[in-house]
Amino acid sequence: MRELLDAAVARRASLLARETNCVRLIDGAGDGLAGLVIESFAGRWLVSTTTGGIPPAVCEWLRDQAVSCYWKRLDRHQKESPAHLSGPEVVEPFLIRENGISHEISFQSGYSQGIFLDQRDNRAEVRRRMRPGLRLLNTFAYTGAFSVAAAMAGAETTTLDLSQPYLDWTRRNLCHNSLDPAAHHFCKGDTFHWLRRFAKQGRRFDAIVLDPPTFSRDEKGRIFRVEYDFGGLAELAVAVLAPGGWLLCCTNFRGMSPGDFERHLCAHLSRPTKVRHAPMPPDFTDHAYLKSLWLD
Ligand SMILES: C[S@@+](CC[C@H](N)C(=O)[O-])C[C@H]1O[C@@H](n2cnc3c(N)ncnc32)[C@H](O)[C@@H]1O
Repeated sequence: MRELLDAAVARRASLLARETNCVRLIDGAGDGLAGLVIESFAGRWLVSTTTGGIPPAVCEWLRDQAVSCYWKRLDRHQKESPAHLSGPEVVEPFLIRENGISHEISFQSGYSQGIFLDQRDNRAEVRRRMRPGLRLLNTFAYTGAFSVAAAMAGAETTTLDLSQPYLDWTRRNLCHNSLDPAAHHFCKGDTFHWLRRFAKQGRRFDAIVLDPPTFSRDEKGRIFRVEYDFGGLAELAVAVLAPGGWLLCCTNFRGMSPGDFERHLCAHLSRPTKVRHAPMPPDFTDHAYLKSLWLD
């Protein structure tokens, strides 16, 4: 067990550079450690397990690492913040760096800690594609990590989420990178509602990120399910896309293969599109659950 854990961490060493200090250190069966995921956020470790506990050998190894360790059960219905396991407690939000961009992380904010590391390479690609004068719409934005990536490239961003606390978190993330939130736009509410409103207003975007949860219910109780509704969502997004613009569509719904996802989207999109499937970052060695389609 120790050999497997040490080897998995050693394999990630090259990903941890001065510019990036957050990676997935252990990715379950991909590292021969089914049911165990460990992520490092600037040296504070978050351990996730599919079962209600951690094997004693893993607990012992974690204690030997002498770092702050928190634990949560991998379960999307879970709402609780991770529990302290070993090492110094982390009671305040703190900053991590990803490709030179700072993001605020909290181990006290419920099930999710402020960033999804599986989107690292997509964020880097968004930054590469954006420049001053271009407008990005980031829907289902969570803490606005895609917005910050685009804003770092000089783009104007619009961040859209149902949750005001997440929009406030996005503003703080911009500030952590010396970017002025007043130069960007924030919309609270349902993505479907806002896309229709932007279309009526004649508002256009050069790039749109669609990364919805697999299942969601808006304030009016309307239900969104990736497998039935993503195509309609992409259709609404295309209606507010400027000529030459692009969409990034993502889902981590395991019930759809990359081919199913592409067919579902393309069945709804009328204009000709160039489609590229992006792989997951190299520290995600287990099942490639995240499907990312770049539609140009
Ligand atoms: C899976 S997270 C998105 C992750 C984000 N794209 C990222 O890469 O950091 C889902 C987010 O969608 C938001 N959300 C859920 N349903 C929504 C809706 N109908 N309209 C707008 N935001 C919604 C949630 O508040 C949450 O912040």
